[in-house]
Amino acid sequence: MIVCRTKAELKERLAQLRKQDRSVGFVPTMGYLHEGHASLMRQSAAENEATVLSIFVNPLQFGPNEDLDRYPRDEERDLALAEECGADIVFLPSVEEMYPSKPLTSVIVNQVTDRLCGASRPGHFDGVGTVVSKLFHLVQPDRAYFGLKDAQQVAVISQMVDDLNFPVEIVPCSIVREPDGLALSSRNVYLNAEQRRQAVVLSQTLSDAAEWLSEDGMTVERLIARVKVQIAKASESAIDYAELLYYPSLQPPAANAPIRSIGQSIIVALAVKFGGTRLIDNRIFEAS
Ligand code: PAJ
Repeated sequence: MIVCRTKAELKERLAQLRKQDRSVGFVPTMGYLHEGHASLMRQSAAENEATVLSIFVNPLQFGPNEDLDRYPRDEERDLALAEECGADIVFLPSVEEMYPSKPLTSVIVNQVTDRLCGASRPGHFDGVGTVVSKLFHLVQPDRAYFGLKDAQQVAVISQMVDDLNFPVEIVPCSIVREPDGLALSSRNVYLNAEQRRQAVVLSQTLSDAAEWLSEDGMTVERLIARVKVQIAKASESAIDYAELLYYPSLQPPAANAPIRSIGQSIIVALAVKFGGTRLIDNRIFEAS
């Protein structure tokens, strides 16, 4: 496994792969890798002849009061896991390498960013779209792997790739969870023992929502009201959002729409704070 810290080194290594005509899978991350990231790397390694992992904590996608400065990092452990999962190249640029000067160009995806994290983290997806565009240009992958843990991110990147004709296939990957259901996240390390215990309410509520959805006469507003009541029972929780939307358009059905008659794929998406830690989770229900 080769570690590249500059764009020039990466370019050279990728040129060698292309000479051998190897297909390239790409897994962009911000590091502090866990089994969720590992599942993306393993899938890429299984489906491509070479896998590139990037680790870059992208300042552009953090708001002024967010956790950029304390975002967890462990380069040594990340590199060991990347190697174990079959990564061939790890791109680990510094902020100066990625942004030698303040960028004056942004990639802004409209509409799919109006709600959920797009609404509660203004500018977040502009930062994601911009950095992922840069990384796609640098790596030029055949396929790129994204986790459905960040389902809105998958929708945003897929829209960007379609709109701007990036020659890459976006591969959405399922959410990896702890045995009790909590979705793995680099941010879970911020939780204290009590918050960690209570955080299971997100995945539990999504499972319950799967049952509630099929009840006779269940509407969007009734379901969301029930979801909110259940989450609020966890004493340390503070709901940022709980929404039911069409997926991947992320537009809202009518509040009084009977869910059983919707006939399109929908997502129930949650963002809940425990103390200073904001957790997200979701479940997508395919149209039957
Ligand atoms: P990061 O939060 O490090 O996540 C990197 C990738 O891992 C994303 O595609 C994310 O959805 C996926 N992932 C995280 N937790 C997962 C889980 N429990 N199961 C499955 N996949 C999971 O997302 C980012 O970084 C950044 O926004 C990035 C795309 C790298 C741009 O900076």
